[in-house]
Amino acid sequence: MAGLMDGFGCFTHAVVRGIPQSLAREALRSGSLEVDLLKAQEEHNEYVSVLKHRLELEVIELPADETLPDCVFVEDVAVVCGDTALITRLGAESRRKETEAMKRALIELGLNIVEMADESATLDGGDVLFTGREFFVGLSKRTNQRGAEILADTFKDYAVSTVPVLDRLHLKSFCSMAGPGLIAIDSSEPAQKALKIMQQMSDHKYDKLTVPDDLAANCVYMNLPGKGHVLLHCSPEEYPESAKVFEKLKDHMLIPVSSREKEKVDGSLTCCSVLINKRNKI
Ligand code: GLY
Repeated sequence: MAGLMDGFGCFTHAVVRGIPQSLAREALRSGSLEVDLLKAQEEHNEYVSVLKHRLELEVIELPADETLPDCVFVEDVAVVCGDTALITRLGAESRRKETEAMKRALIELGLNIVEMADESATLDGGDVLFTGREFFVGLSKRTNQRGAEILADTFKDYAVSTVPVLDRLHLKSFCSMAGPGLIAIDSSEPAQKALKIMQQMSDHKYDKLTVPDDLAANCVYMNLPGKGHVLLHCSPEEYPESAKVFEKLKDHMLIPVSSREKEKVDGSLTCCSVLINKRNKI
């Protein structure tokens, strides 16, 4: 198992997608705050610019599609691990066509494509937490047991455990990897309970980084040549107390990136990219 952690967080490529104007009014959401489209686009441009210019990843930018208001949230449509990409069957029917452009891009990148064809299965990538050793899959309104089973069949080298997601959209709405063996989690009772379940199901002892704000535990960890541990996390303007927790990670290159507008339509940092490692793997 230990070897499986090698290369955790190493990425060379990212696939992102533009924000359509339709996001403001038509994207799915659990809240009712009005989205400032211009600000959302600026926020997203900043996110893409960090990946491209600051982290020097090769970024493939798929064009926005006005008929797919949620299309910027690319994480949900593909789970990539090593040289295999599982194209998901999204829980929300209105989002299912988002997979088409992603599939073409991942074929172009030379990945092995597995499609979730079973019509009884649903899975959103936002429910998939890969720790480098194993997968945790949130069973939510968007992801079901059959979806988790197909993920387990696709990535047979790794254990796959399921976790109930009761009060949020996705598993990664309240947790994400902040480093090798380090899970960022918010302080709410349901989140802490879910983490306990994950710890009980694993034979690995994960460390936890608890942040006080409910939506602040979603961060993007990478380990990049010449840069080391990199973490995109919430900005101090959005969540000052949670940002302070991330700022204590002295070994990481810390990059605060705001998701304030995208959060109004249940977006987060991990949602907006599919990260791929082509080095020595494909
Ligand atoms: N707006 C993101 C989603 O609900 O899928």
